[in-house]
Amino acid sequence: MGMGLGAGDRLVVASHNPGKVREIRDLLAPYNIETISAADLALPEPEETGTSFAANAELKALASATASGLPALADDSGLEVEALGGAPGIYSARWAGESKDFAVAMERVERELAEKGARSPQDRRANFICALTLALPDGRCDTFEGKVFGSLVWPPRGMRGFGYDPIFLPDGRDVTFGEMEPDEKHAISHRARAFELFIAACFSCG
Ligand code: IMP
Repeated sequence: MGMGLGAGDRLVVASHNPGKVREIRDLLAPYNIETISAADLALPEPEETGTSFAANAELKALASATASGLPALADDSGLEVEALGGAPGIYSARWAGESKDFAVAMERVERELAEKGARSPQDRRANFICALTLALPDGRCDTFEGKVFGSLVWPPRGMRGFGYDPIFLPDGRDVTFGEMEPDEKHAISHRARAFELFIAACFSCG
């Protein structure tokens, strides 16, 4: 829909999470796009009131684009567990509580799976999902979604990554995201897949 970006453009990364900003900056480095974070511009952080990943990514991207007058990119992501009807889903960060303790969040997932009697990998299917929205100051926006499928293990394995990584075993692999080298995870992750779609659509002249 004609929302192309090109070398030299400035783009706001609509996140106050330094880890996410760094990851997005790294992914955009080859395209010669100058990135500024929403935190650097002291842009307000909207409340995530949407009922889907895409709605939350759009709301964050639009808030930054309209406040800054620059194109803005936002990401919203989480874990969906099939046997739990897609929970924690958009509440993935919130399941970790005020102290952002993902040991607590992973224990809750495991407790709820145990209550359902979910023991086999087939009963413990899950996916990570990432919605990525590019918004323009005039209100246009475009959203790209990536997913990675696998099953959940218990106990957690590995100290790498973040969030729910230590319990997520991607299909076809025998190490969890928590045990993988970061480059290995980034080659197959939900965020990498959403980025591929975004890059293909918005950097068509490459
Ligand atoms: P957001 O910052 O509102 O998008 O929340 C994302 C939450 O989803 C994070 O706090 C993590 O709990 C979870 N999440 C998203 N992506 C990943 C990942 O790659 N590994 C592990 N957890 C993730």
